[in-house]
Amino acid sequence: MKTIPVAALIEEATKDIPGWSPQDQLLSLFTLAFSSAGLGGDILELGSWCGRSAVALGLAAKLSDKGKLHCVDLFPEKNDWYQNEDGTYSLVVSIDNRRIGAYGDQTVWAEPYLRDIAPLYERFSGTLQAFNVAMAENELTDFVTPYRADLEKFITIAPKGLELRLAFIDGDHSYSAVSKDIEIVEQFLLPGGWICFDDAFSSYEGVNQAIVESIIDSGRYSNCQQITRKFFVAQRR
Ligand SMILES: C[S@@+](CC[C@H](N)C(=O)[O-])C[C@H]1O[C@@H](n2cnc3c(N)ncnc32)[C@H](O)[C@@H]1O
Repeated sequence: MKTIPVAALIEEATKDIPGWSPQDQLLSLFTLAFSSAGLGGDILELGSWCGRSAVALGLAAKLSDKGKLHCVDLFPEKNDWYQNEDGTYSLVVSIDNRRIGAYGDQTVWAEPYLRDIAPLYERFSGTLQAFNVAMAENELTDFVTPYRADLEKFITIAPKGLELRLAFIDGDHSYSAVSKDIEIVEQFLLPGGWICFDDAFSSYEGVNQAIVESIIDSGRYSNCQQITRKFFVAQRR
């Protein structure tokens, strides 16, 4: 059988998509989402930005031909960003007359903002457009649905009877937000399903604390494992 290896496929598909997920993490995400297809259920990503990790997860849905990928993000536009007094950047988006902030506790330094974030608004009208282009170019639109929302809103508009075989948490990195996200996601996670985290046990104290309390010490998860430098997974009992 001569097919393109998935690792090469993901690398090619994501090479021009701005974002922060390295290739080893993308392949790990794909592998879990692909190999858990037998559980049934869908895949959820919280924090999609321009679609880099969503491509890996979307490919898993497509190649396994099982389930859909739901991508939840505030999808900020250029004017949603503002500069703080110390020169760093934060954002606030307005969704259904609700103002939702991000990067408030852990603001974005001017240098990475100007290097990684500002230029993408010259290429695209916003992150949702960048996301949609990435899905279309990789023929994933039939398998992936973006929601401009936080999780609280998503669960009010999610497909009825939603069940998840994998959830990837990469949204607001504060302790309170990650704890709340885990609580919400858990209601939909199938026994044997995976919950995965970016930026775990690297440089975000809030993410670490939430994982220790709500996952590792909860008794509700097995196979708690750091897979790559900043990618952590656990399996619902
Ligand atoms: C680190 S980026 C995600 C990167 C992406 N997974 C990748 O591979 O490139 C974090 C994302 O979380 C989103 N975000 C932050 N707070 C959020 C919230 N409360 N609800 C939904 N999305 C949020 C931001 O808009 C941003 O796109």
